[in-house]
Amino acid sequence: MKYFILFGPPGAGKGTQATSMVEKYSLRHISTGELLRKEIAEGTELGLKAKSLIDAGALVPDEIVEGMIESVFNTEKDVAGFLLDGFPRTTAQAEALDMILAKSGDEVTSVVSIMIPDEMIKERIRHRAAIEGRADDANDTTIENRIRTYHDKTEPLVEYYKGKGKYNEIDGTGTIEDVRTKIFTLMDKF
Ligand code: AP5
Ligand code: MG
Repeated sequence: MKYFILFGPPGAGKGTQATSMVEKYSLRHISTGELLRKEIAEGTELGLKAKSLIDAGALVPDEIVEGMIESVFNTEKDVAGFLLDGFPRTTAQAEALDMILAKSGDEVTSVVSIMIPDEMIKERIRHRAAIEGRADDANDTTIENRIRTYHDKTEPLVEYYKGKGKYNEIDGTGTIEDVRTKIFTLMDKF
């Protein structure tokens, strides 16, 4: 089983690129952000807990997302692999993922990191706000907090995966098609 991590700051294009990646490589897309938004829409207890954190641009507790990921791994067996979008996002989550995969003798196959500068993050999210109506895209304070949370909590994972020789970075500033082509060239190697 292959386990790809689609990494990058908010608005980098993870969700956008995931669609064509899962199709081409027969992967199951798991976006922890989408799973959490579904819980919120359904008004579950977990959703209620997550909503205030997401709306503030903070992360939800590690145990919550780790549990979500493990439960998808356990229920979806009929795929060539998984594409993790927005997970892991802290060093503790990366270590938990390694432990979950080790139970079945697996490991992370590769990290595909889409990078864009902070100013472009804001432009892209403001643009998307008008189209998708995501609550955490709606105000500048939340967007600033998401960017800060990314730099503080998530960016250290670049070094974590470089240390394991699994980190691959793609320039995310080009057109959607340009970025897709670069990702496919990289993914073809795995
Ligand atoms: P999540 O849903 O993962 O949000 P995110 O990481 O902030 O990333 P986005 O979904 O905003 O951006 P994206 O990279 O998918 O970009 P997209 O393709 O949409 O998480 C939301 C929240 O949930 C978190 O803040 C946190 O609270 C919580 N959460 C989730 N996972 C968690 C975890 N593991 N631990 C704890 N908490 C967690 O593109 C953006 C826009 O740009 C779109 O409009 C798109 O059309 C456009 N675009 C894309 N590519 C291009 C391009 N090349 N050129 C021009 N426009 C482009
Ligand atoms: Mg997304």
